[in-house]
Amino acid sequence: LSETRRVLSIQSHTLQGYVGNKSAVFPLQLLGYDVDPINSAVLKSHRKAASITSLSLRTLRLWFKGEVLNGKKLWELIEGLEANDLLYYTHLLTGYIGSVSFLRLTTVLEVINKLRSINPKLTYVCDPVKGDEGKLYVSLELVSVYRQKVVLVASMLTPNQFEAEQLTGSRIVSEGDGREACNILHAAGPPKVVITSINIDEMCTYICGCGMGQFHEQFKIMIPKMPAYFTGTGDLMTALLLGWSNDDNLDKAAELAVSSLQALLQWTLNDYKSAGHDPQSTSLVIRLIQSQDDIRIPQVKFQSRIL
Ligand code: ATP
Ligand code: PLP
Ligand code: MG
Ligand code: NA
Ligand code: MG
Repeated sequence: LSETRRVLSIQSHTLQGYVGNKSAVFPLQLLGYDVDPINSAVLKSHRKAASITSLSLRTLRLWFKGEVLNGKKLWELIEGLEANDLLYYTHLLTGYIGSVSFLRLTTVLEVINKLRSINPKLTYVCDPVKGDEGKLYVSLELVSVYRQKVVLVASMLTPNQFEAEQLTGSRIVSEGDGREACNILHAAGPPKVVITSINIDEMCTYICGCGMGQFHEQFKIMIPKMPAYFTGTGDLMTALLLGWSNDDNLDKAAELAVSSLQALLQWTLNDYKSAGHDPQSTSLVIRLIQSQDDIRIPQVKFQSRIL
């Protein structure tokens, strides 16, 4: 067999729309990975489409339909794979787990240990999904498990601004704060850290990363904000970063990931506009399938700047 890159992806699943595994599996497959998705919770839809601001756990529960994976069931799956000699993975990816799925993060930690006992070189990509725009949508207990345990064993960490603040316990209100948060997280363990969006100014968002390239440089990529609200972008961003991170050049991986994502968002926005929708009235469902060329062969239009 040729060299396989096999990802175990533990995230939520939605029947409709693209978040969690629905946002991550297809692009990873396009980038040549074998992906085994474990769905931590099955939701009818990503969130109540009409309300942009109410990204609360309650909102998610309304959309949440019975099927959940608890720690015991997850462990049974892992044991089943092991019994059949199928537990060799090159990557583990975790996204939105926690309260909604009733899946305990501590079980996820056991999964990491188990996978690393089989492949010590396992890359663990952790999107520490905890909230956004000042709102927490998991319990405080979960935040502390992430802080004290999960972050320490991650190979790559991809928090958004709010999650980075939660993990470091400090606010990010300037570019310097962003760099500082990135450094703190990097020093805590993960060889690669990308804060996937820092919003300081109205017009622009930027991502800030810290890798383990030759000079351990920090980099940033500026991204003009589109006047629209999308869902699933964070999960997609993490999947793309995993997909392009085959070596130590995190800044190059980030350029590719950002370029793909922005092309896809532009496509999505244009599509909604040409269908006569007001892109600011609802959260837009990303045109993931339609953007497969931008995922497979991105044109790098966003360059990282070494800081
Ligand atoms: P989400 O906010 O979707 O729950 P997240 O907070 O985990 O996800 P973000 O960091 O907010 O992830 O978004 C991931 C990427 O998507 C960011 O790099 C950001 O630039 C891009 N993005 C999201 N919305 C927009 C937008 N309106 N215009 C331009 N880029 C966007
Ligand atoms: N998972 C589910 C089920 C969600 O509803 C959401 C947000 O709406 C997310 C994950 C987070 O998605 P992202 O950070 O990719 O926008
Ligand atoms: Mg966000
Ligand atoms: Na993120
Ligand atoms: Mg996110």
